[in-house]
Amino acid sequence: MRGRFLVVEGPDGSGKTTQYRRLSDLARANGLEVCEVREPGGTRIGERVRDILLDTDHEEMALRTEMMLYMASRAQLVAEKLKPCLDRGALVLADRYVTSTLVYQGRAGGLPRDEIMDVAKAACGDVWPDLVLMYDVDEQTAASRLNPLLDRMESKGSAFHAKVRQGYLDEARDEPSYNVVIDASADPETVYARTLDALEARLT
Ligand code: TYD
Repeated sequence: MRGRFLVVEGPDGSGKTTQYRRLSDLARANGLEVCEVREPGGTRIGERVRDILLDTDHEEMALRTEMMLYMASRAQLVAEKLKPCLDRGALVLADRYVTSTLVYQGRAGGLPRDEIMDVAKAACGDVWPDLVLMYDVDEQTAASRLNPLLDRMESKGSAFHAKVRQGYLDEARDEPSYNVVIDASADPETVYARTLDALEARLT
C-alpha cells in the first residue's frame, strides 16, 4: 500500500475513528510509513479553522462559508502533509476528506455537488483517495456512541443526521469506483474483520 491514499468516512458516531486507529497500527506493524491526518484540522492553521467551524457560538455561519472553511483547512493539509507524504511513497490514512463536504454540506446541507467539486479541485488538485471506506450505522447506534457534549455539527439534530447517513449511501451508489460501504452496526472486532475484507477485495 505504498504511496496509497486511504480515507475513512461516516456519520458522527459511526465508529470510523476506532477502525482508523487499528488500520494505522496494522500498516505500521507491516513496516509501512504511515501519515495520519484528521479533518477538519491536521495542521497548525487547520486546527484554528477547526475551532471556528465547530464553535457552538457560530450559529449564524452561512453554508458556503462552512463549505469553504472545510476546504481551506483541507488545502493547507494537502500542501503541508498529503502531497509530500504521497510523493515520498508513504501510506496516507485520513479521517474524513472531500466526501465529508459532499455529504454534510452537499447532500445533507443542500449545496450543489458540482459547486463543491469545483472548490475541491482548487483546494486539492489531483490529490484524490484510492479508496474511501464508509462506515454505515443506524442513527440510534450512532447517537449512543457520541460524547454527550456535542459540537456545532453534531448538534444539528436528527433530521440532519438522517440526511447525512443517506447522503453517504447515495454518494457510494453514484461513485462506486472508489467508495465502499461497511456495515458498522456490529461490535468493533466484527467491523474490523469487514474492513480487512473490503481492503483485500478493493486494493489487491
Ligand atoms: P469531529 O469532532 O472531528 O468528528 P468526527 O470524529 O466524527 O470526525 O468533527 C468533525 C465534524 O465536522 C463532523 O460533524 C463532520 C463535520 N464535517 C463537515 O461537515 N464537512 C467536512 O468537510 C468535514 C471534514 C467535516
